[in-house]
Amino acid sequence: MANIVLGLWTTHGPQLSTTPEEWMLRVPGDRARVHWYKGRRYSFDDLVELRRNEHLAERSTLEARTRNHAACQAAIAEVARIWEEVDPDVAVIFGNDQRELVLPQLQPAYTIYHGDTFWNGPMPEWRSAKLPVGIREAEWANRPEARTEYQGMPELARKLLERGLDERWDFAASNELPEYPDHHHIGTPHAFAYILRRVMEDRAVPILPIITNTFFAPNQPRPWRCFELGELVRDVLEDWDSDLRVAVVGSGGMSHFVINEDFDRGLIDAIQRRDAEYLQEIDPGLMQDGTSELLNWVSASGCLFETDLAGDLIDYVPCYRSEAGSGTAQGFLAWR
Ligand SMILES: [Fe+2]
Repeated sequence: MANIVLGLWTTHGPQLSTTPEEWMLRVPGDRARVHWYKGRRYSFDDLVELRRNEHLAERSTLEARTRNHAACQAAIAEVARIWEEVDPDVAVIFGNDQRELVLPQLQPAYTIYHGDTFWNGPMPEWRSAKLPVGIREAEWANRPEARTEYQGMPELARKLLERGLDERWDFAASNELPEYPDHHHIGTPHAFAYILRRVMEDRAVPILPIITNTFFAPNQPRPWRCFELGELVRDVLEDWDSDLRVAVVGSGGMSHFVINEDFDRGLIDAIQRRDAEYLQEIDPGLMQDGTSELLNWVSASGCLFETDLAGDLIDYVPCYRSEAGSGTAQGFLAWR
């Protein structure tokens, strides 16, 4: 039986790896797009009106942003410190793809990566030029300085694929990261690459990447199914004849691109009291856009709730960048 020694729930987005000044590069984009908020869609101006009483302009001043940025850097350092102290042998990471590997032409709900290795490396300038401003500035956090090969976990991946087939799961399988000409991305998706860089600090252990299509209609899995995915992974780890010490990571979220603190705090509370029913019954309408990445937190919870690991919230930091409430809420939770 493999031993789960660490559970992590962490956000991974660009605001964690750009300056408080750079956060504002995203605001013109925020103004131009339609946003999901509490299950409905709003223009930027409608959100400003709707949230007027929350005084969000005051919570997105340079001073407030600088304070929030510092809190995030401290939380990231604490997560990395816990990682180093626990020193897991391997990691199972629940992450999502954001049009890095998975294109609309063929978009599986769940993909298990079973290759022996995968890679990441610097992005050619012409590719990163295709990334939106305010996101490309964060690429340093998603890439090593030189091309690097990482170890996958093909044995565990195949056990998961096999057991899935026996238990009514039909996963997609990948043995090599696809590369497309003219695409804005190559290498490892940021949901996984961020963990390698800023949690493991480039001292990578073998990883089983589990890629969920959280973001993109029309086949985003339901929260209850993601929780069951976590339970399945836990069962596979329990039955695995191995003495490896395993970390389980949920990578993504929290609410964005419009922050909903009530939703985030409800989710954190549910995790801390191991409330499986709460997580499984989350209205999928509340998990759109970047908030959908919290499905990875739900999967990690399904894997971790019945372990004896526990821990306090490291921090929750709603990083507002506009009076409409746009930005990303950052959350960091570790059980050991
Ligand atoms: Fe993301």
